Amino acid sequence: MSVDLSTRYLGLDLAHPVVPSASPLTGDIDHIHALVEAGAPAIVLPSLFEEQIEHDAMAVHYSLEMGADGFGETPDGFFPRLDDYNTGPEDYLDLIRRAKAEVNVPVVASLNGVSTGGWTLYAQILADQGVDALELNIYRIAADERQSSAEVEQGYLDLVETVKRSVTLPLAVKVGPYFSSMADMAVRLTDAGADALVMFNRFYQPDIDIETLEVTPNLVLSDPVELRLVLRWLAILHGRVATDLAATTGVHVADDAVKALLAGATVTMMASALLRHGPGRLTEVVSGVADWLERHEYESVAQARGSLSYASAPDPEVFERTGYMKTLKSYVPSW
Ligand SMILES: Cc1cc2nc3c(=O)[nH]c(=O)nc-3n(C[C@H](O)[C@H](O)[C@H](O)COP(=O)(O)O)c2cc1C
Repeated sequence: MSVDLSTRYLGLDLAHPVVPSASPLTGDIDHIHALVEAGAPAIVLPSLFEEQIEHDAMAVHYSLEMGADGFGETPDGFFPRLDDYNTGPEDYLDLIRRAKAEVNVPVVASLNGVSTGGWTLYAQILADQGVDALELNIYRIAADERQSSAEVEQGYLDLVETVKRSVTLPLAVKVGPYFSSMADMAVRLTDAGADALVMFNRFYQPDIDIETLEVTPNLVLSDPVELRLVLRWLAILHGRVATDLAATTGVHVADDAVKALLAGATVTMMASALLRHGPGRLTEVVSGVADWLERHEYESVAQARGSLSYASAPDPEVFERTGYMKTLKSYVPSW
């Protein structure tokens, strides 16, 4: 393979830009081994969720502060031994330790917090385990009718700033696309300390079962068509924000990864396709990207990156209003 696929993401040197994103596949050490054997250049672990671990993570924190035998009466009550409890955070920390010890690629931990104190405490706990970078999975539904969009946005920025101050690790921030001004938010998240933006979090939409009259929160894996939204924002933001851009949602085959790179992604991430087809899909995507670059006479990923971004596209209007109008007018009914 003569084409240079090397990529620098979050200050980490990666062999190529196709990274498994947070999913159950990266939550299991055997699967992590399989992904690395398939060529994964880094691993993003699933998120540690604050709601699930509130008590345990505090217990870990206390144990770190008080020594191994330090459990006892505290001002907040009695903290039980970790093995008496929900084993979530201990398992997570163990996964980090094993991944760091057993595979030779960077390990990115992911955190999904609730309270400001929780985000910073758990960020520090994860950093203490020696992870190479941290991804903040900010999954918020702005459902409070009394909270303005400015307040919602400020919440994101305060959070990123606070976590950035509390750890020295490179920080990726995974967000959804639902901001009134995505470009402005991207700049402000970068200013607040995001070293990478991971675009985009998928908001899992509950369905309604009209027979049982129940709301059903079933998870649907992504479809490649969902990549389009990501492509637009990669293209618009590439070169205009001083941060890495990771593409997540809808990367299923090599062509998807190529599109994301051309739009401006620093790395492309995969979850659904790996869950459906297994780690071998990652190998296929990497070699497909290399083939494509060779066939199109690119010497490196770096050379191709962003060549169809807003700044470089022959017709940047396709990303904006004129593109919208042209697209609607171009539709020809097939019947
Ligand atoms: C079963 C499942 C579990 C996931 N768990 C997490 C998670 O813990 N943290 C996170 O940030 N994203 C999580 N994701 C989202 C993926 O990392 C990814 O961003 C999303 O699925 C879109 O990418 P895809 O189209 O390649 O699936 C999960 C996705 C799936 C399908």
